[in-house]
Amino acid sequence: MPSQDRWAEVDDYLTGLLVPEDPVLDHVLSASAAAGLPPINVAPNQGKLLHLLAVITRAHTILEVGTLGGYSTVWLGRALPEHGRLVTLEGDPRHAEVARSNLEAAGLLGKVDIHIGPAQQTMAQLVTAGMGPFDLIFLDADKQGYPAYLDYSLSLSRPGTVLIADNVVRDGRVADPDSGDGAVEGVRSFLELVADEPRLSATAVQTVGAKGYDGFALAVVGS
Ligand code: SAH
Ligand code: DHB
Ligand code: MG
Repeated sequence: MPSQDRWAEVDDYLTGLLVPEDPVLDHVLSASAAAGLPPINVAPNQGKLLHLLAVITRAHTILEVGTLGGYSTVWLGRALPEHGRLVTLEGDPRHAEVARSNLEAAGLLGKVDIHIGPAQQTMAQLVTAGMGPFDLIFLDADKQGYPAYLDYSLSLSRPGTVLIADNVVRDGRVADPDSGDGAVEGVRSFLELVADEPRLSATAVQTVGAKGYDGFALAVVGS
C-alpha cells in the first residue's frame, strides 16, 4: 500500500512541475520557521488550489480564519484584483506579527487586514461592523471553532460565496463518532451543520500528500 513516503514523493513531483519556485513564498516559510511557528501551513500545491479557487470565482473579497505566518494568505491575496481586499483573523499576536512582516515582504499589506483576537470575537465584530459579503471564505483555525465559524460565515456571505474548510478528515478519524477528540468532534459538528443547511451545497474530499492524510470541504452558498 502506498503510504506517507510515496505521498510526499508524489507531492514533490507535482509541486516541482506545477508550482513554480517562488522566493517570496519560500521566505514566508523560512521566516515562519525561524520565528518558531508550527509548520501547519497548507502544502504548496494546496496553496495553489486555494489561489485557483479564488481566481476561478473572481473573488474581490476574501476572509481567512487562521493566519499563522501568512502562507495561505499570500496564495489567496495574490489572486485578488487591483482593488481586492482580504481580511485574515489570527488569535496569537506572535503569529500575526510574523504574518504582518511576511505580507509586507510579499507586497500585500496594502490589500490585507489582519485582525487579532479569538476568531469568534473578531468574526462577530465583522458582522456588527456590516463587513462583507465576502466572495470566498477559508476556515483554517481551531477545529472546535468550526461550527461557530460556519454560522458567522453565513452571516458574512451572499449567494455564490465559496466556503472552504481545511483539515476535515484528520487521518480518517472524522468517520469515528466516538473519537473523544475535540478537533474531530468540531469537524463532525461542522459537517453535519453544513449538510443540514439548506443555503449550502457542499462536498468534502480526502487528500494525501507531504502533510499526511487529511481533506477539505468545499461549499457554495445558494439563494
Ligand atoms: N492558514 C494557515 C495555517 C493556519 S494554522 C496557512 O495555511 O498558512 C491555524 C492558526 O489558527 C494558528 O495560527 C492559530 O494560532 C490560529 N488559531 C487557533 N485558534 C484560534 C482562535 N480561536 N481564534 C483565532 N485564531 C486561532
Ligand atoms: C493543525 C492545524 C492545521 O490547520 C493544519 O492544516 C494541520 C495541523 C494542527 O493544529 O495540528
Ligand atoms: Mg489547516
